[in-house]
Amino acid sequence: DPGGVLPQEEEYESIVSSLPSNPKLQLLCYQGKWLLESWVPGIIAIQRPGGGFAPRRGDVVLASLPKCGTTWLKALAFATMARRAHPPPPPAAGDDDERRQRHHPLLRLNPHDCVPSMEKLFAAGLGSKIMDALPSPRLMATHVHHSLLPASITDNPHCKIIYICRDPKDMIVSLWHFVRRRLPEIPFLELFESACEGRCLSSPIWDHILGYWNASKTRPETVLFLRYEELLHDPADSVRKLARFVGQPFSPEEEEAGVVEDIVRLCSFERMKNLEVNRAAGLSPVLQQNAYTNGSFFRKGGTGDWANHMTPEMAERLDAIVEEKLRGSGLSF
Ligand code: A3P
Repeated sequence: DPGGVLPQEEEYESIVSSLPSNPKLQLLCYQGKWLLESWVPGIIAIQRPGGGFAPRRGDVVLASLPKCGTTWLKALAFATMARRAHPPPPPAAGDDDERRQRHHPLLRLNPHDCVPSMEKLFAAGLGSKIMDALPSPRLMATHVHHSLLPASITDNPHCKIIYICRDPKDMIVSLWHFVRRRLPEIPFLELFESACEGRCLSSPIWDHILGYWNASKTRPETVLFLRYEELLHDPADSVRKLARFVGQPFSPEEEEAGVVEDIVRLCSFERMKNLEVNRAAGLSPVLQQNAYTNGSFFRKGGTGDWANHMTPEMAERLDAIVEEKLRGSGLSF
């Protein structure tokens, strides 16, 4: 561990040995949240005061529940924030043009290789090494609950958070398809039940959503709250919002040149899904440890697939739980 921030084996054992776990889903209940076991050492490292995470002015953290549009948000934020170094390509005029355009990182790499996931990096002992080498303003991502992040992120006026949420019903369906890649036999009902009980991946999901929602209300200048469904409805509007929020609004010249539309097209589901890097069965370097291929992050890319997996009664039950948990917050699905 080059940064010296990961807990040593004995210390880690003493922290986690008494925690509730779900071995089948590889989850540990750490600080009241059900987290992927393999993230926990990374989270402990990030939480260490003066240890794991060294904030830098201008840092932007993308936060989300798994399966709520993380990959898309990574692509859009990267394309927006890196647009001076890497202009998004305009529509290709032909095959030759298309080939020439391949220099954009998002056309050669999976979005997860353009924006690092903090807890995975820190768990691999690569946190400080890779994060320190990123150019400013740094762009990084997390699936961790707001309450588990260090104050150096949440209370830092120079660090911005962009959160994306999604209808929990679609999230759970997406998660089931994802988990099935590792556990082909897992019944949908099992994952659904665990979500309703607040015990599936990154659960309770309402805690996750509410933590960032409340933060966006109290600190709107440092927390931007986005919804997957809104992005689908009007991606250009969300990209403009995102650019303003990180202090890089589009200039009239960029608007005139269609840069916003170029970013939306570059990051669109069809474009990303059909790229060679995402079609190949290969694994991206940072994702290797969890055995999911690049292509597994692109499935249907729409809304309402829950209706193909849940009975109306199941949907009503989950909706009622979520509604009850969010009551009084001003947020609903
Ligand atoms: P579905 O499984 O419902 O299709 P995450 O990136 O957080 O893992 O979320 C994955 C979900 O986002 C998947 O949903 C995936 O298809 C969808 N997705 C990935 N890239 C997208 C894009 N560029 N546009 C819209 N949806 C996208």
